[in-house]
Amino acid sequence: MNLIKIKEMKDHVGEEVTINGWLYNKRSSGKIKFLIIRDGSGFVQGIVVKNEVDENVFELCDKLTQESSISVSGIVRKDERSPFGFELTVKNIDLIQMAFNDYPISLKEHGVDFLLDNRHLWIRTPRQQAILSIRHEVIKSIQEFLNNNDFVRIDSPIITPSTCEGTSDLFQIDYFGENAYLSQTGQLYQEAAAMALGKVYSFGPTFRAEKSKTRRHLNEFWMVEPEMAFVDHYANMEVQEKLVEYIVQSVLENCSRELKELGRDLSKLEKIKTPFPRLTYDEAIELLNKNGYEIQWGNDLGSPDETFLSNQFDKPVFITEYPAKCKAFYMQPKEDRPEVVLCADLLAPEGYGEIIGGSQRIHDYDLLVKRLKEENLPIDMYDWYLDLRKYGTVPHSGFGLGIERTVAWITNTEHVRECIPFPRTLSRIRP
Ligand code: 4AD
Ligand code: MG
Repeated sequence: MNLIKIKEMKDHVGEEVTINGWLYNKRSSGKIKFLIIRDGSGFVQGIVVKNEVDENVFELCDKLTQESSISVSGIVRKDERSPFGFELTVKNIDLIQMAFNDYPISLKEHGVDFLLDNRHLWIRTPRQQAILSIRHEVIKSIQEFLNNNDFVRIDSPIITPSTCEGTSDLFQIDYFGENAYLSQTGQLYQEAAAMALGKVYSFGPTFRAEKSKTRRHLNEFWMVEPEMAFVDHYANMEVQEKLVEYIVQSVLENCSRELKELGRDLSKLEKIKTPFPRLTYDEAIELLNKNGYEIQWGNDLGSPDETFLSNQFDKPVFITEYPAKCKAFYMQPKEDRPEVVLCADLLAPEGYGEIIGGSQRIHDYDLLVKRLKEENLPIDMYDWYLDLRKYGTVPHSGFGLGIERTVAWITNTEHVRECIPFPRTLSRIRP
């Protein structure tokens, strides 16, 4: 038995092969049955001709229910007219399980709440399968890029005693009688690790109890967080743009079937080449005001503002040097202008919003103590973080890239909830 995956069919034209998979759909035209089979690597049409198979195989086709698990053997044929490029002339079908005949996700349209309730089954459909495969490629390419550039992976803890990105959206847990929080970011630990190993990164889940019901927010999302010793704000942005270029080009190279399934406009992705444009926050405010957006200096950008700004470019754009009061306590103030900080948000094109937040970090002990006090953060909780400024402190920088927003942009998916296998949002913790 020549067991192959559907995506490998191109290398087996004319051969008899076996595919283990599931029945996605079927139709019948008299003496011919058409079975759409999926196996996780792709979809293909199997043709069953009455006079060319055993009677019981042909009868089985009549009975097969949607999502029944089957092992199908047949000859691979090239077929230009087929959307899959290949067909399987079926010789035999072994039934593994006849699925219950009340499969909830029929092939008609369903509402999104119904689909999310059935997320464990929804992920079997072509579009979701394509998005999740591209998510895998995004994660794989990020790790490839960082590993090839001498970053060491350091896993930050998930249970933490203190906050980093603001105190308002923490998930609190009881840690043997002590208050603890689910991590909002692994950054502070990456800073410690950068002083030990030079260039490091974490990759893991992040938790924010944000009560935002937007298409860009999840309460549990995945983030990659590189951190680099002896690297300033400007060099930090160069790493970010190279990483994003690498991700997009890897997806273009390795996920053409999935991009086609999603109907993605490839020409938009092909343009994602370094360097990316940079706008200071000041320039962004001026541009917004000139175009009828009323935003005052000192306020954070809202999503309509970000969408307008990103629409001015066909590449991601860095918005740099925000007012310190919009940003977290740890960001390095600009030398000649301390009311702004050396940070950058990278906004994806096509209105997908901020995919990266990054900055140079404060490396001076006294300044960091001052900033913690200004933000009313409990200094004793940060004693270990302050140690990093006591013992061989150096300028250093890093950033966090959100996986789901990056996947939403690359796959042109409206809402980030489809870009994570099992989304956690304000109104959803199941399945
Ligand atoms: O800008 P943020 O909050 O930055 C940090 O957490 C830094 N400590 C990272 C660092 O410098 N090491 O978050 C970084 C990215 C955002 O740009 C966005 O892509 C994503 O994380 N993100 C979210 N994604 C989905 N849902 C949410 N609620 C998100 N919040 C942030
Ligand atoms: Mg941010």
